[in-house]
Amino acid sequence: MSDETAALSPRDKWFRASVAITAGIAIVAAAVGFIWLPPFQAGARFQGVWNAICQAAGLAQPAPTAAEVVTAGYKTTGVVFTPGMFQGAGAESVGRGATLALRCTMCHGARGMSQANSPNLAGQYAAVVYKELRDYKSGARTSAIMQPLVVGLSDQDMRDLAAYYDYLPRPPAYHPASAGPPPEIVVSGATMRNIPPCAACHGGLDNKTGSPWLDGQPAPYIKAQLEAFKNGTRRNDISEQMRNVARNMTPDEIDAAARYYSSQPP
Ligand code: HEC
Ligand code: HEC
Repeated sequence: MSDETAALSPRDKWFRASVAITAGIAIVAAAVGFIWLPPFQAGARFQGVWNAICQAAGLAQPAPTAAEVVTAGYKTTGVVFTPGMFQGAGAESVGRGATLALRCTMCHGARGMSQANSPNLAGQYAAVVYKELRDYKSGARTSAIMQPLVVGLSDQDMRDLAAYYDYLPRPPAYHPASAGPPPEIVVSGATMRNIPPCAACHGGLDNKTGSPWLDGQPAPYIKAQLEAFKNGTRRNDISEQMRNVARNMTPDEIDAAARYYSSQPP
């Protein structure tokens, strides 16, 4: 027998020792990974060692019961967007909305363009107007001014108002070359701070359902909303989409975005 095969024989004490050490390491690693560590995992609940082993190995677990679902300690929006939610809102709906909107002109302007630093509603997407009204009504979005104005509105009233404002011509995206290039935060976001470009949701690059039209909005309004998302006083955005953006914005970026979006033709 050559020296080489002798070294791989179970009779060789070095061979036996190295197999035993390798097996020992595997057993200790499995015990640490599957049994000792899983119970320390934050948020996970294990029913016994076997369950911990199954979870650590990534096997599907039964869905949590209703009692285990974590809910926010505050009111969240109840609005769910569905495709074609506002398709086919007819002239009748727009007409009813126009009549109902007479109560709103004082702040939002005769044709939806505010002279009072309230948000412009002219041309705002129907889905946005409807969602915001529902959120004021349910208390998911708080405003001492808007809340008393929506308590009496029915679901159909809110749909009609949404159809009316959607129908009005929206302020154009007015960004003349003389104003300089658009701010970095708007076109590229800030990757290292997890901020996608504003234009990816608010128009320019893409428009995501439920993201409001921002162009032409008064700068004080834009700034106030970004600060409210940042400090968590506005929290009606689905899945924290805007809070996650605003939370990481610097005051300079908030100013730059407000200045950029508030630009209007002379
Ligand atoms: C007394 C002034 C006032 C009146 C009247 C008023 N609003 Fe408002 N509205 C505001 C202000 C101020 C805000 C911004 C509040 C905030 O910070 O959440 C607002 C916000 C809104 C928003 C959210 C817009 C957005 O882009 O997020 C909608 C939609 C809206 N109002 C619709 C209406 C409708 C419809 C009426 C009439 C039934 C109305 N408002 C009457 C002052 C007013
Ligand atoms: C992932 C998509 C997304 C990105 C990226 C995003 N937003 Fe938004 N934003 C939203 C949505 C959705 C809302 C509406 C939240 C709600 O449901 O009330 C919103 C609301 C807002 C509002 C309030 C407008 C109003 O009329 O109520 C402002 C201001 C705003 N965003 C500014 C920005 C700025 C500035 C950026 C870039 C730094 C940005 N957003 C990036 C999705 C986004």
